[in-house]
Amino acid sequence: MSVDTADAPRQGSGAAQEAARRRTFAVISHPDAGKSTLTEALALHSQAISSAGAVHGKGDRRGVTSDWMAMEQDRGISITSAALRIDYEGRVLNLLDTPGHADFSEDTYRVLSAVDCAIMLLDSAKGLEPQTLKLFDVCRARKMPVITFVNKWDRPGREPLELLDEIEQRIGLRPTPLNWPVGIAGDFRGLIDRRSDGQYTKLTRTPGGAKKALEEPMSAEEAAETEQEAWTQSQEEIELLEALGADFDVESFLAGESSPVLFGAALSNFGVGQLLEAVVNLAPAPAAKEDVEGKPREVGKPFSGQVFKMQANMDKNHRDRMAFVRVSSGRFERGMVLTHAETGRPFATKYTQAVFGSDRTTIEEAFPGDVIALVNAQALSVGDTLYDGPKVVFPPIPSFAPEHFAVARAVDAGKYKQFQRGIAQLDAEGVVQVLTSDVRGEQAPVLAAVGPLQFDVVRHRMAEEFRSPIEASPLEYSVARRTDEDSAPGLHSLSGAEVLRRRSDGELLVLVNNKWRLRVIERDHPELFMEALLAGG
Ligand code: G4P
Repeated sequence: MSVDTADAPRQGSGAAQEAARRRTFAVISHPDAGKSTLTEALALHSQAISSAGAVHGKGDRRGVTSDWMAMEQDRGISITSAALRIDYEGRVLNLLDTPGHADFSEDTYRVLSAVDCAIMLLDSAKGLEPQTLKLFDVCRARKMPVITFVNKWDRPGREPLELLDEIEQRIGLRPTPLNWPVGIAGDFRGLIDRRSDGQYTKLTRTPGGAKKALEEPMSAEEAAETEQEAWTQSQEEIELLEALGADFDVESFLAGESSPVLFGAALSNFGVGQLLEAVVNLAPAPAAKEDVEGKPREVGKPFSGQVFKMQANMDKNHRDRMAFVRVSSGRFERGMVLTHAETGRPFATKYTQAVFGSDRTTIEEAFPGDVIALVNAQALSVGDTLYDGPKVVFPPIPSFAPEHFAVARAVDAGKYKQFQRGIAQLDAEGVVQVLTSDVRGEQAPVLAAVGPLQFDVVRHRMAEEFRSPIEASPLEYSVARRTDEDSAPGLHSLSGAEVLRRRSDGELLVLVNNKWRLRVIERDHPELFMEALLAGG
């Protein structure tokens, strides 16, 4: 990546070099596959944090899980997402958190627009699970490189070849194992590194249940003697992989067509080092991002970044709103006055933070691939661009297919103005999508969300922040498709379907009871236009 010297006075020093040593990624997984454990293990492995259990708390584990909102505290779950910075061997790894449980929301998807690579984390006994598949859809749509980590190999699970077959058959991603387990899931002996002449690392659990397993390198002869049958079997499997040509291939990996696979156990920190190495060596560094006209903004150019997430009310004492920005180019320096591309207005960045969970540290500078949190960001919305120097506008972040719908009504009709203002604000922030129709009227907009918890967020904020408590009554729809003016009347007249307009972009959406009903409509009315929305649809 070249640094354009024409912009030199405005750009921070070494943005391109700093970009080259960064890796920005997220973990996609189904709840309970071990994302928190893996995050902790990755951080621990690189010694980013000093004590185990400090990353992502669950239950009794004290962590830095986001606890900004009272609601989150009540539920003990994380609704928000932020970035964890891991310094590792001269590299900076930014691990963005993707909320996963009942709190699954559009934010979860949007995080994926801010990363360059994903780790697909699978439970060895369960393989591909629904939430993983949904998130993978977003990765596929963006042609994002995906590294697969098969976790919990210390517990009984499926055959490794069967898992690879599932990945290839169900999602069309060609698996190329980087390491191979010796011993079946549940009788985990060690790992063969397929890329370094088959070097073997034996796993020895430390006595007394200590978390970290001991990794002991062993020669092939020694391994054959120690592991016996398990060794022979894994050698046969490796020969099979070779015959199938399941070898790592950079080009197809970067195109999102093949995926390097690693086996391990996050809980015992086994295979985690190899995963870190894979992220460092294989995941792409931040690269030029295309603007709305398709013109690339090189990483060495003056500052630019895009808001991928908004967070409100994190501090009970301040009604502040925080914008999470992924830096695309240049050097960010605290105090810079940037331009908000959508309005042309200046945006002062006096207060800038790096945030992970409730840990906030003020940051002084940031480079491409980093995530910064701007406070007092009332003027910003998800997808907005901020820049310094030559103007740039990045394409909007796509909306994702909602699966939950509810009609919102102001509890107190006298507060209608506050109601309108609040709903418009939450729509602009991307907390929910707001749909309206002449039939329902402006006073009863339909809220659409990827996860049902978003309605609780809306209820809470409407009451606390906008002083207009609402009722949100669920609707019996679970599928949304894009449609057009010609097909709208026909679809609207069918039972189990309703057409509404999305306020943010004027798009017409048809909501349908369920997938079964959708299939019937598609079969009986092929003339009516319906198109899937991105992910989840
Ligand atoms: P999540 O964030 O993806 O939801 O998963 P989390 O890390 O919380 O892990 C879910 C459960 O799986 C936890 O057990 C965790 O200890 C376990 N786990 C994660 N990685 C491994 C692994 O490599 N091997 C084994 N055997 N277990 C693993 P839990 O009983 O639900 O919680 P806890 O009581 O251990 O905290």
